[in-house]
Amino acid sequence: TYVIAQPCVDLLDKACIEECPVDCIYEGQRMLYIHPDECVDCGACEPVCPVEAIYYEDDVPGEWAGYYKANVEFFDDLGSPGGASKTGKIERDHPLVAALPPQAT
Ligand code: F3S
Ligand code: F3S
Repeated sequence: TYVIAQPCVDLLDKACIEECPVDCIYEGQRMLYIHPDECVDCGACEPVCPVEAIYYEDDVPGEWAGYYKANVEFFDDLGSPGGASKTGKIERDHPLVAALPPQAT
């Protein structure tokens, strides 16, 4: 799966959403999260993010390693909705993200 990391927090550019062929990039309150089971690893989202927040799971920079789990665990109580357009914005974040101070934009 691909993973969205800290540069997305409080920015939410959303260019990535347009690229995803399976609509598996979900909007939380302060960042977006990629569904680990719905992502088909097409990689189309990665180059369009203006702040390079998206990485293949094996390539997440060490300082943001926790974001692999953050993306996975965000869906713990959502299951597999089968498309972000069905859920719309989800008004919460993973605790790792919720605990961050406001990020400079
Ligand atoms: Fe975030 Fe980049 Fe997408 S800032 S919303 S991961 S284009
Ligand atoms: Fe979608 Fe990016 Fe995965 S475009 S299928 S979230 S690699």
